[in-house]
Amino acid sequence: MRRWLIGGNWKMNTTRSSAIELASAIRAGFRPRSDVTVVLFPPFPYLDAVRDVLTGSAIALGAQNVYFERKGAFTGEVSAMMLVDLGCRYSLVGHSERRHKMGESDTDVQRKIDVALEAGLHVVVCVGETLDQRQRGLTSVTVTSQVEAALARIPAEAHDRIAFAYEPVWAIGTGQTATPAQADEVHTLIRDLVVRRFSGGDDVLIQYGGSVTAANAGELLTEPNVNGALVGGASLQASDFLAIIGSVPTA
Ligand code: PGA
Repeated sequence: MRRWLIGGNWKMNTTRSSAIELASAIRAGFRPRSDVTVVLFPPFPYLDAVRDVLTGSAIALGAQNVYFERKGAFTGEVSAMMLVDLGCRYSLVGHSERRHKMGESDTDVQRKIDVALEAGLHVVVCVGETLDQRQRGLTSVTVTSQVEAALARIPAEAHDRIAFAYEPVWAIGTGQTATPAQADEVHTLIRDLVVRRFSGGDDVLIQYGGSVTAANAGELLTEPNVNGALVGGASLQASDFLAIIGSVPTA
């Protein structure tokens, strides 16, 4: 059976009360489907409040980031165990805003994947090329090196807790979406890299992210190697996010 993963990445948005309101509206409008996993990624301070809203629903809680040390003198950081303790089942790792605005390297990403998997989390590893890299014909090289670095240390038995999000940097928050064909081309590359690394790699979910809206989700999600969407801006409106979930093709 084909499976799907739809994530709402709220980034540094919402207040405590608007986070509760948004999660409540999504919960109220969500029609669970056994082939679709939905995860909300609120800001750290609201994880507990959103968890309380989602408890007893089929919607999972996820963190936008995790630190790569287990505990200790790392002021301001949040460990994987803390996220599990708060009820998270997922964490994003290596979002392009962290790579490009906070200077996260492939090595940081590897270490974050290590601690997240060790703590029992599912990990969504974000990869993608910048506009400059695409224009210079470096999309495959860039994505290959990010994916290979991410896969390098993942134990085979953990491959079912890994997903990828292909998010071209030029498409994030810009209103400029990759065409379904552009997305599928890179997803196929990621799929090949995963399959080369793990025999069960065919099952690994690969989301597309970058200006996904209710209007364009349907055609992106029909591409054979697109297994879902990681949604930023459009996940801040319950009706838009629910419409994106509603556009997941039925088998
Ligand atoms: P966007 O963000 O949907 O606002 O482009 C996607 C993301 O960064 O995950």
